Amino acid sequence: SLIHVILSGGVGSRLWPLSRKSRPKQYIPLFEGKTLFQLCAMRNRELCDRQLVVGNINNYKLSRKNMEGLGYGDYQSIIEYWPRNTAAAIVFAALSCDPEDVLLVTPSDHVIDGVPAYTEAVTEAVRLAGENNLVTFGIRPDRPETGYGYIEFEGNDVKSFREKPDYETASSFVQSGRFLWNSGMFCFKAGVFLEELGLYQPELLAAARQAWENKSYDFLPDEQSRMIPALSVDYAVMEHSQRLKVVPATFTWSDLGSFGALWDYKESRGKKQPEPGRGNNLVLGSSKHVEFIGMENMILVETEDAILVLPREKSQEVKNVYERLEQEK
Ligand code: GDD
Ligand code: MG
Repeated sequence: SLIHVILSGGVGSRLWPLSRKSRPKQYIPLFEGKTLFQLCAMRNRELCDRQLVVGNINNYKLSRKNMEGLGYGDYQSIIEYWPRNTAAAIVFAALSCDPEDVLLVTPSDHVIDGVPAYTEAVTEAVRLAGENNLVTFGIRPDRPETGYGYIEFEGNDVKSFREKPDYETASSFVQSGRFLWNSGMFCFKAGVFLEELGLYQPELLAAARQAWENKSYDFLPDEQSRMIPALSVDYAVMEHSQRLKVVPATFTWSDLGSFGALWDYKESRGKKQPEPGRGNNLVLGSSKHVEFIGMENMILVETEDAILVLPREKSQEVKNVYERLEQEK
């Protein structure tokens, strides 16, 4: 069968203070009352045979509320004690399935438009996954974003995969026209994924298996989970695998991963309305009257207990603030 795996583990630290540990960005009802998590579950519901949420002890109740809010009470769930990044999360999903099951793994925090194009891309990915490939979805890049993975491609073939390159490298990739962004969605047989991971990260696989064998109900254990190397699937497998394929996507995609991405998204939807006194600046979350003088491309974010001000091009640095605050706690 085809299983939709929803990854919901990150905190969205680049959207601090909008996104908090207590409420990561995929659970903020930003979209006509719906959350990104819900839109993700809805988009894939009819395409797949069943749904599986891999989350953690801090957010599984939010996931449940989101699913039940849609009337999707019948999903399966895996609850991590410690988030150990996406490689481990996907191992758990794969271990819970039959090796021949095809997994459609999606982040829970992206915006996608264009259902027919999306459906077509998934159909193509499932076909390629059936031929024992690890399938990625490629997005045409329009800027040298350093927070993404880059896929060097020719048709459906992948020449190389490079996760989060530095700015110079990303610029040369975008200029060459031979690269796509990795959307962060994947499609593969459970068994093929485990085999590939075992080839490149045998220790991670062994540690994750050990944790899996000690889970109780949907809950993974504390001690064994702590031992699992925290590595993203991109670094762990995608940068190494010889079985990679890509489906170049024609749907509209944004990961809303940073305030810069949120800006682009709003602009592309005509939702960034010019307001007198604001110039070419963006205000998020504030109900106060805000004016800018002599500033362009600035972002102001206000929540109940925090204010963040930054130039648009420094969006990637917000996570440093988040990390510092976490350490000071
Ligand atoms: N269950 C679980 N456990 N989920 C996790 C964990 C974890 O430990 N860590 C992250 N996730 C979830 C996040 O909630 C998100 O939905 C998804 O997995 C991807 O993780 P991110 O932390 O957002 O990854 P990224 O944005 O840095 O990079 C990935 O996505 C980019 C596109 O948005 C990579 O795949 C890049 O190559 C890609 O370009
Ligand atoms: Mg992300």
